[in-house]
Amino acid sequence: MEKHIRIFDTTLRDGEQAPQCSMNTEEKIEIAKQLELMGVDCIEAGFPISSEGAFAAVEKIAKTIKESQVAALCRAVEKDIDAAWYSIKDAVSPRIHTFLATSPIHMEHKLKMSPDKVLMNIDYAVRYAKKYCSDVEFSAEDAMRSEKEFLVKAFNTAIKAGATVINVPDTVGYVVPEEMNETIRYLFNNVDRIEDVIVSVHCHNDLGMAVANSLAGVKAGALQVECTINGLGERAGNAALEEIVMALRTRRALFGAYTNIDTKQISRTSKLVYNIIGQTAPINKPIVGANAFAHESGIHQHGVLSARETYEIMKAEDLGIMENKLVIGRHSGKHAIADRLMNMGYDFNADELAHYYDKVKELSDKKKNITDSDLEAIINNKERFVGTYKLEHFDIHTAKNSTSACIIKLSKENNIIEGVSLGDGPINAAYNAINNLTGNICEKLINYSIHSVSDGNDALGEVTVKLQSKDVIVTGRGLSTNIIESSIMAYINGINKILETR
Ligand code: KIV
Ligand code: ZN
Repeated sequence: MEKHIRIFDTTLRDGEQAPQCSMNTEEKIEIAKQLELMGVDCIEAGFPISSEGAFAAVEKIAKTIKESQVAALCRAVEKDIDAAWYSIKDAVSPRIHTFLATSPIHMEHKLKMSPDKVLMNIDYAVRYAKKYCSDVEFSAEDAMRSEKEFLVKAFNTAIKAGATVINVPDTVGYVVPEEMNETIRYLFNNVDRIEDVIVSVHCHNDLGMAVANSLAGVKAGALQVECTINGLGERAGNAALEEIVMALRTRRALFGAYTNIDTKQISRTSKLVYNIIGQTAPINKPIVGANAFAHESGIHQHGVLSARETYEIMKAEDLGIMENKLVIGRHSGKHAIADRLMNMGYDFNADELAHYYDKVKELSDKKKNITDSDLEAIINNKERFVGTYKLEHFDIHTAKNSTSACIIKLSKENNIIEGVSLGDGPINAAYNAINNLTGNICEKLINYSIHSVSDGNDALGEVTVKLQSKDVIVTGRGLSTNIIESSIMAYINGINKILETR
């Protein structure tokens, strides 16, 4: 019989923990809803003890999500477990995920605990979590560098104390597939009552083997895979959800397994996550990179045209990758936009539709042909919260070999404020003017990037900036056919986000 492989997504926890991948609460909720729509079995929403903001975000996600399980991470100590439980207690299907390291190197140098003490703590933590929640996952951190006999003891202890899922992380991305496969088999042969729990794998990608190791775990009997969208995560990242799901789907007979993921949502989910963290996929990234389904060479093109299977093992449409049709014109009504969005598989409410409609109208004054990509960019760039500052007007003078000057008007709580500044180029002049008006709240522009959303001279330009203020780093985004306007909007969006953290 085919096995159901549960997809445990940790984009909002292990993914978000990575440098430059932090997200605000609204963004996390948006991703959580998309993960739910995609059919993720369990969403790890965060590490609630880490900050008040993290707690609040997990709590909101737990209250919002109805179809997927919601998990919260905690160390194996009471105050962490309390925070985890209170953040997810209103979820339809909550899970407490507690962890403790089991490798000699972690026990000795990080925990400074004897192996016996580690076993006692596992027992205590799982029993303590179990008082709150029937579903408790225990992870043996650095499992793959632990002694196998001790790992068996740790999992025996966790299962006896009531764990329902035991997770085997390759925390430092150290092993190769053969070793992962052997370890999971060893656990199946040696851990008591292992058939009563779900065995899970959680692989990091330091040697580029996270996906292969996860699949080797599945081959050996693991029924849950922990992964992240686009493979986000600490250092080189975690196993990429889209690769795991498509490998299982494309080689279904080999694995004798399936997932509940609606693969048509994969492309959109990947873009949403990249958009939120202000990055784009490397062109050759499996499944979600721009070249993943492109055939340039004549031989390949000829082959694919004669019979697709010659060079394609997956269909782009199964991932929800659009043909980029011309969709909407100046005269299209709300109904036509709603219809197109539904065809593209989007879920939206009346307010969101009204917002998209306004943006399409605005855009159709500047751009002749509006395509699916434009529509998608509008959706991905919708304001995720109402900010303090709003752009009202700008006027920039720039010329070769001379200093640029910018006059800018912003509104702040219904007051219009106006500033002027010079700069080395139009964007520098605009950013200097905004800095003067906002009290230099942005201390450093860490990164600026621009990419065009579709083809043609009138394409939408999407600007992403990373701004730093003390130890806070935020991503700001702006979208317009005028790249100076998108640059200004991205900067203001970032400043609004810095203010939101205060
Ligand atoms: O990589 C790891 O060990 C983890 C655990 C907390 C599951 O992320
Ligand atoms: Zn991890």
